[in-house]
Amino acid sequence: MKEITVAELFAGVGGFRLGLEKASVRYRTVWANQWEPGKKLQHAFDCYDKHYGPSLTNSNEDIAIAKTNCPKVDLLVGGFPCQDYSVAHSGDAKGIEGKKGVLWWYINDIIGERKPDYVLLENVDRLLKSPSKQRGRDFGVILRCLYDQGYYAEWRVINAAEYGYPQRRRRTFIFAARNTTKWYSSVAKTINDNPREVLYKTGFFADQFKVTKGEDIVHEYSLKEKFNGEKYEDLVDFSNSFQASFENTGFMLNGKVCTTTTTPYKHKQTTLGDILESDGVDDKYFLGNDLEKWRYMKGAKKIERTAANGHSYVFSEGPIAFPDPSDRPSRTMLTSESSTNRSTHIVEDPKTGNLRFLTPVECERLNGFPDGWTDTGMPEKFRYFCMGNALVVPLITRMGKQLLKIIK
Ligand SMILES: C[S@@+](CC[C@H](N)C(=O)[O-])C[C@H]1O[C@@H](n2cnc3c(N)ncnc32)[C@H](O)[C@@H]1O
Repeated sequence: MKEITVAELFAGVGGFRLGLEKASVRYRTVWANQWEPGKKLQHAFDCYDKHYGPSLTNSNEDIAIAKTNCPKVDLLVGGFPCQDYSVAHSGDAKGIEGKKGVLWWYINDIIGERKPDYVLLENVDRLLKSPSKQRGRDFGVILRCLYDQGYYAEWRVINAAEYGYPQRRRRTFIFAARNTTKWYSSVAKTINDNPREVLYKTGFFADQFKVTKGEDIVHEYSLKEKFNGEKYEDLVDFSNSFQASFENTGFMLNGKVCTTTTTPYKHKQTTLGDILESDGVDDKYFLGNDLEKWRYMKGAKKIERTAANGHSYVFSEGPIAFPDPSDRPSRTMLTSESSTNRSTHIVEDPKTGNLRFLTPVECERLNGFPDGWTDTGMPEKFRYFCMGNALVVPLITRMGKQLLKIIK
């Protein structure tokens, strides 16, 4: 069977690679890039390299520099942050420029240069709504770029817990296929005949992430024309005026976007309790005398505060369940998981009944990584950090299986 070559951008500790390799031996990652800005020690890269290297094809440089080294591949993958994707005219007024350090532009450059057949990306769920003052602009810019480069795109907001995994982690996944692939032609035909089929039956996410047939397509947008029928002059005009409500499911073909809200079929849940270590948890993970401090941090509060301009106001926040319930999937794990922070999980130890933090292994389990994946020499707090950045690996395995059907 022919291999499927992959380049992994913003590779972290390798969630995409691990997930794809679990789906099939046909996936071969031929280039990976990971660089933690401003840090001398590169813990995530070292972890990646320990598992998948050392290799000349694992690059530990800023993608701004490394992007020209990315080879031509069949599939480009990467998880990247939600940033400001607006563009402006550059100095000579003809060129177009995004903000410096915005990672989407490097992905876009690599797509333009290397023209991979398929692209699979991950971002946070709020990408679809941002920025708040011009809702949908940022995601619109991504779709418009993919359209300009000759791609069909599909997206789905996926909450891992709704597909049987132990964490309520909601992420936007975007899959794109180039107009030279056979699959592009078959999708284009389906959409022409019956667009709903793509959402519920034949699209990239439809089979592995089954959803109930809900509403019909609720919004349609053009990426080519404004509502008044005028064409967008260029990407700057688009970024200045595009606004849209993107729902959790949708697709874009030939500059036309269709989106709707879907609901996953009910799955048997995996709970936080299911992944807790039941024995041998070190004393250092237990709260000890800090119980009251944590109870206060997690509790509801109303505090009178004074702003810099002297204006006084009441700061209020609601309670967070304390301890975290073990009979349901966990809350989303953040990069701050190991710090003294109200979003850090506190659980009841299954053996002693005493309260404690999650162990690094439990954090790995929440994302579906093998136990000890990040135990590669980095300080423990970075093991939590890396898991806060990572994705839920088995979701990628499902997507990898689907892609095999598409590539055939
Ligand atoms: C959301 S995380 C992706 C995590 C990855 N999917 C995983 O499973 O571990 C984004 C990664 O991009 C890296 N990164 C941020 N800026 C970068 C840059 N300029 N060049 C290369 N990598 C960068 C971060 O260090 C982080 O590991």
